[in-house]
Amino acid sequence: MKQIWCVYSSGWGNTRLVVDYIWEVFDAKWITFEKTNALVAETHDLTRYTTMILAAPTYDHGVLHRPYENFLYRCKDVDLRWYQFGIVWLWNDTYDAEYTCESALLLQEFVLSHGGELCGDLLKIHKCPLPVLHSNVWDWVESCWF
Ligand SMILES: Cc1cc2nc3c(=O)[nH]c(=O)nc-3n(C[C@H](O)[C@H](O)[C@H](O)COP(=O)(O)O)c2cc1C
Repeated sequence: MKQIWCVYSSGWGNTRLVVDYIWEVFDAKWITFEKTNALVAETHDLTRYTTMILAAPTYDHGVLHRPYENFLYRCKDVDLRWYQFGIVWLWNDTYDAEYTCESALLLQEFVLSHGGELCGDLLKIHKCPLPVLHSNVWDWVESCWF
């Protein structure tokens, strides 16, 4: 049976909302989905299962939410060969129109530079995720994971 582990972080709850929705979709399909907050995640949480989801919002001039950045730093020597990653990325250009894309690229770059493989397209969520849960998020889960 497929098992998926997610490491996420969330300052104000948007990313957490998306991750909880993804959990519901997998749960309805009897797929094991477990998650750890990057604040407390340890190095081995990045390779718990061969299929992983990384979910993080953008903060501070287009960089990763600090707890996520710290987590990836703790994982800087991890070998990700044989692991597949889906990436969930939240942003809002009203905070900083000049710096919106970098955190998605940072996540992608981290996976690829450590030998990991990307699973489908990045899920990019602009502003509040609520209106797109049953459309974009659902479609992403269907297209990447089934
Ligand atoms: C203090 C602050 C700084 C932010 N900086 C950026 C930014 O530089 N670029 C960007 O695209 N979004 C930025 N955002 C928007 C967040 O990425 C977006 O609101 C996201 O949905 C937050 O997810 P969370 O609720 O899980 O923390 C910022 C938000 C806050 C509150």
